[in-house]
Amino acid sequence: MPRKTAARPNGASGARPGAKPHARAVQGGPSGAHPAKQPVRVRVARPAAVGQSAPRHRTSASGLRAALIAFGFLLVFGLGAGYAFFWRDVQVTVNGASTSVRIGTPLDSFLEDNGYFGVAPGHLLSIGGNVITEDGGTRATVTFDGRSVAADAWTSEHLGDGSSIEVGPGADVEEGHTEETVEVAPQIEKQAGGAIQFVSQWGRAGKKTVWTGEVSGEQVDREVLEPAQNMVVSSLNVHPEGEGKYIALTFDDGPSGYTQRILDILAEKGAKATFFNLGSQVVGRPALAKAVLDGGNELASHTNQHMNLPDCDRDTLRSEISTSFDAIEAAVGSRPQMIRAPYGAFTDVEWARAGDLISCNVLWNIDTLDWKRPGAQAIVDGVLSGAYNGAIALMHDGGGNRDQDIEALPAIIDGLRAQGYELVTVSELMATDSRFPREVVEGAVKMPEGAVLPAA
Ligand code: NI
Repeated sequence: MPRKTAARPNGASGARPGAKPHARAVQGGPSGAHPAKQPVRVRVARPAAVGQSAPRHRTSASGLRAALIAFGFLLVFGLGAGYAFFWRDVQVTVNGASTSVRIGTPLDSFLEDNGYFGVAPGHLLSIGGNVITEDGGTRATVTFDGRSVAADAWTSEHLGDGSSIEVGPGADVEEGHTEETVEVAPQIEKQAGGAIQFVSQWGRAGKKTVWTGEVSGEQVDREVLEPAQNMVVSSLNVHPEGEGKYIALTFDDGPSGYTQRILDILAEKGAKATFFNLGSQVVGRPALAKAVLDGGNELASHTNQHMNLPDCDRDTLRSEISTSFDAIEAAVGSRPQMIRAPYGAFTDVEWARAGDLISCNVLWNIDTLDWKRPGAQAIVDGVLSGAYNGAIALMHDGGGNRDQDIEALPAIIDGLRAQGYELVTVSELMATDSRFPREVVEGAVKMPEGAVLPAA
């Protein structure tokens, strides 16, 4: 609603309160005197015969008085006219429509008194682009005599005769923010499809700037200063280079009461295998773990308690791996780095949480399904029919009755040899394929200085 400097229709300005000083100055004047008449009346009223000097004095005094009165009148008239001139109403144009306003009215008062001519204010936006308050932006967008005038300059602009004002909706304003530089954790890129998984590129942290909204608390990434280097986990099947044919037999879940008989068969046949022992089993049978190594076989970890690792939290996962290494090291004097995760379950998360602890995770290409106890011949047939150069076969020397494995093993070894295979350990198998890094083959992987694990 219009208030003190409200624009009014043309011709209505004379009635407004602001025009009073104007009206009084022009019509009333100082006591309503008529300076043109008073000196005449004075001259007529004074007789010239009273004395020579007296009339002259009287004439002189009355002339001075008349001059003062005239001067006073002119002064007041001049002030009144000036006042009227400087406080007169003028016509301005707002969004194409003419309106009347007292000259010199500040732009901010004019806009406020006229309700910003109905335009909506802009929003206050968060740094994420969400509306924090509907009216927290600028109140209006104003063009004054062709110039765009920001809100903070409205007070210093004054309306004059013929001023032209365009008033549009307010602009959105973004909240304030703070900026900080933070580290960017690497991501993990895990390939799939191979029996042996290992880190082929370690992750390195990057840097980025992040804005935090002062009102909303929202956080927005602004600029990548230094990209992170992702951790890459390769997944390869072994493809032996050269002329030989190689295959690796593996035994899980031991050591157990069956392990020595399996070791005896291997020794008798002059063959090697790889044993993925449970740390918890090694603690009770350290001599069997040592016998595995002494027979020229490879000893690796099947974790400590055979938990499904994706169900473990970070600490439990790392403990399941390192505790098994500790147990093996205590039993045999050397510390392995190779694992076979129970059920083969080792996802991106496990790599991100514990990839620094291991050299590789070894799965299998031939599953004998021996744990189903399908009969010794089925186990033999499973290996011999599935064999190919570079394959890894899964069997068990613990976790249940392994009589069928023991019964099948001599025929498996003989049958593979008849097909031209050399039975080697998993590390020896990897060594036949130059795509496997030497530190992975040798179980001597160390996360480099400055490398970091992905966030998980
Ligand atoms: Ni197992």
